[in-house]
Amino acid sequence: MAARQEVSITVNGKQVRHEVEPRLLLVHYLRDVLGLTGTHIGCDTSQCGACTVHLDGEAVKSCTVFAVQANGHAVKTIEAMAQNGTLHPLQEGFWEEHGLQCGYCTPGMIMSAADLLQRNPDPSEAEIRHALKGNLCRCTGYQHIVNAVMYAAKKAVGEPVAAGIAGATPERATASVGEAPAALVSGEGIAVAGTPTAEAWEQDYGAIRGVYPAITESELDEARAHPQGHLEGMVHAISRRTGETVDAVRARLTTLLHRRS
Ligand code: FES
Ligand code: FES
Repeated sequence: MAARQEVSITVNGKQVRHEVEPRLLLVHYLRDVLGLTGTHIGCDTSQCGACTVHLDGEAVKSCTVFAVQANGHAVKTIEAMAQNGTLHPLQEGFWEEHGLQCGYCTPGMIMSAADLLQRNPDPSEAEIRHALKGNLCRCTGYQHIVNAVMYAAKKAVGEPVAAGIAGATPERATASVGEAPAALVSGEGIAVAGTPTAEAWEQDYGAIRGVYPAITESELDEARAHPQGHLEGMVHAISRRTGETVDAVRARLTTLLHRRS
């Protein structure tokens, strides 16, 4: 075993010193020595990005860096993103835009996105997708993650932001159990004034599938990511599946959901 080496690293603004084996990876140092378990390990091939932290302000995969390489440098982890009990705009964005399901990839996503926003405060959707190429998510689907980063970018420059920034995410719950979403015809699409509860969604699925038996629940789920909103997404999904015109499906769906609201 190689002789242990002393490292002195500024982690989240605090200087820490330890003797470590030269082979110790930074991610293991953070998690096992410092107890900063917000940095995750999701692979052993340096592909997933769950371990992303900032080293001297730049995003790195901490499973590809030895702790001794961080000696004399500054490391920032997800634990330091919230300040004085206030979420970082990116954390708020992931919360508001439903940018996670299990959350395993989220710390790495946020650290990579923070790196992007400090280099490019107003990224396009394509630039966000490019910047997050090294971060894999197994369960959310990337549209909501992109929306979360756009939310944070707008918030950081002081633009007003609201949940459902790109129209892909319903607003926060306003319906009571069993109540249908408040859907109103608005211009070309169906505007959503509230998010149904899980139970209400089940009822809506049932009602829609009663009229369109061929549509699957997963198709309707995917429709939630439609840029004009989840109900409009359903209209297009149903139209694709049945061959009925978008206008005809929209009219029928609106009537169907209105009848229940
Ligand atoms: S754990 Fe580092 S890239 Fe997957
Ligand atoms: S939210 Fe589960 S892996 Fe991304």
